[in-house]
Amino acid sequence: MKKYPYQITSLEEYKEAYEKSIQQPEAFWGDIAENFTWKKKWDDVLSWNFQEPKVEWFKGASLNITENCLDRHIESIGDRPAIIWEPNDPEEHHRVLTYKDLHKKVCQFAHVLENNGVKKGDPVCIYMGMIPELAIAVLACARIGAIHSVIFGGFSAQSIADRLLDAKAEFIVTCDGAFRGQKDIPLKSVIDDALIACPFVKRVIVCTRTRIPVSMIKGRDVWWEEEIKKVETLGLKYFDAEPMDAEDPLFILYTSGSTGKPKGVVHSTAGYMVNTNYSFVNAFQYNPGDIFFCTADIGWITGHSYILYGPLSAGATTVIFEGIPTWPDAGRFWDIVDKYKVNTLYTAPTAIRSLMGFGLEPLKGKDLSSLKVLGSVGEPINEEAWHWYDEHIGKGKCPIVDTWWQTETGSIMITNFAGVTPAIPGTATLPMPGVLPCLVDENGKEIEGNSVSGNLCIKQTWPSIIRTTYNDHERCKQTYFSTYENMYFTGDGAMRDDKGNYKITGRVDDVLNVSGHRIGTAELENAMNMHAGVIESAIVGYPHDLKGQGIYAFLIYEGNLEDPDLIRQDIIQTVSRIIGPIAKPDKIQFVTGLPKTRSGKIMRRILRKIAENDFANVGDTSTLLDPAVVEEIIAGKI
Ligand code: WT7
Repeated sequence: MKKYPYQITSLEEYKEAYEKSIQQPEAFWGDIAENFTWKKKWDDVLSWNFQEPKVEWFKGASLNITENCLDRHIESIGDRPAIIWEPNDPEEHHRVLTYKDLHKKVCQFAHVLENNGVKKGDPVCIYMGMIPELAIAVLACARIGAIHSVIFGGFSAQSIADRLLDAKAEFIVTCDGAFRGQKDIPLKSVIDDALIACPFVKRVIVCTRTRIPVSMIKGRDVWWEEEIKKVETLGLKYFDAEPMDAEDPLFILYTSGSTGKPKGVVHSTAGYMVNTNYSFVNAFQYNPGDIFFCTADIGWITGHSYILYGPLSAGATTVIFEGIPTWPDAGRFWDIVDKYKVNTLYTAPTAIRSLMGFGLEPLKGKDLSSLKVLGSVGEPINEEAWHWYDEHIGKGKCPIVDTWWQTETGSIMITNFAGVTPAIPGTATLPMPGVLPCLVDENGKEIEGNSVSGNLCIKQTWPSIIRTTYNDHERCKQTYFSTYENMYFTGDGAMRDDKGNYKITGRVDDVLNVSGHRIGTAELENAMNMHAGVIESAIVGYPHDLKGQGIYAFLIYEGNLEDPDLIRQDIIQTVSRIIGPIAKPDKIQFVTGLPKTRSGKIMRRILRKIAENDFANVGDTSTLLDPAVVEEIIAGKI
């Protein structure tokens, strides 16, 4: 049965909707958009070109996304849980925020932001752990029209400073610390380090969580709780949602690419809202009242789109989990499913593989019978993990949706619909309505027909497409719209099977996917090269049982290598400082030279083969400046 007017419930309906979405995108998305709350409706559904690029959806419309995520649900489902929060420590009490509660808190914090000088269009950096206040801060920014820029807690002070500088963000919302497994992460202290390089930051709002001692600078740092008290004393309650133009930026999210520093992917308001909602309702076949648990961190796009905006705009109950899957034991996810009777679990292959490693013991005594739908995201799911997920978690009765998408796409692009369109292990399958994928060869020529593979591009715009890279539109154009004319280039390779299903094979650019997190090799090399003694570095990915890809570093090091393990540890520290703990290399090999062409280009293809132990297939080395270096590196590895 249809729970949303635009929910697709059969394969025939999918085909029909898909056809219409491609032939008449304006009529298709215009009809869907009618189901949202607008302050003013649009003049035009769509205008776009991929040359500049310039994409506008629902132009002329005025709205606030938080009215769609909160206000419009108050009367009908105001007492339904919007957020169920599970703390890191299972002994601590969980929290439930109904739609009414969340609405009230978002309004309060919007007042706090306003009292602290935040205005429409201001970028606000959010660096917090996975607590309800993170969701509140994000939504309060949206309510006031400020542009949120959430930074994942695993990034270093240097990375935060880079992002603050890039966005010229004058406001920060953070916590004293965060609990993650056994660790307490000193978030405010990391922010303090970042701010040494960012004197333009005017205000830091600090929410208490771990209550470790923190420095509080007079005139700059204020406590979240005290600011809320002020708002209460002033009797400020409801906050009028700022009218936003459809194309006003909603948020910035930094992501790594094949060159340079991470770039700020900018998403706009209306298209993002409509597309995340539509994909949420359809891919997962969400039923009102269901409990939806996405295990991602809100610091990544998955958390933005499928912990917050997609579910909340659909009136769903979304679970926010503060901790990690393996603490206090590897049954943590299953306890949460059991405790809250979770209906949909959306997680990453890397988590599944890691939990598989603990065997079936952690599943004993856990009632998983509430589960109806499972989801996978972040990297290609290997068949072994797929079958384990299906058999031991879904008990063979839950469809698994393999959702392919990216930070830049904003919402799910290629996926099966749970129980509606066929699932194929390890295959994302069919494009969402509105998505027109194609495969191209190196020369940019489209590869027609089925049973083919190539570079994955998208030929037509969709509502939640990236609008720009913050303060640098040219970079957006170069990265995504210049490789192939009139196409958005994903950076992924894919195969199209005999029935037209897409199977994503992985990145074709110099970007690694480590535990479902994207890290650029150029960024990593830059961090390595900052370590004293490192003359030159080359980073490649290699197959890693748990992480999908591991980070392999080939380094030319000048200096004392008597204790190479100690030097390796030092280098890991440097990378942690420069990028963050998520970028720590898994393997470091010291070499005396790197395989370079006569023009000085490092031949990564060769290094990749060496890192994979595929020595027989290093290929032709005759064009190298010094072919002997390859033998040396191989000899140094074995
Ligand atoms: C890259 C995007 C948006 C999800 C979180 C990661 C890879 C993502 C799949 C999938 C195969 C996948 C791609 C993509 N990826 N989902 N279901 N099957 N690969 O977001 O950091 O922007 O990374 O993750 O390589 O380009 P991201």
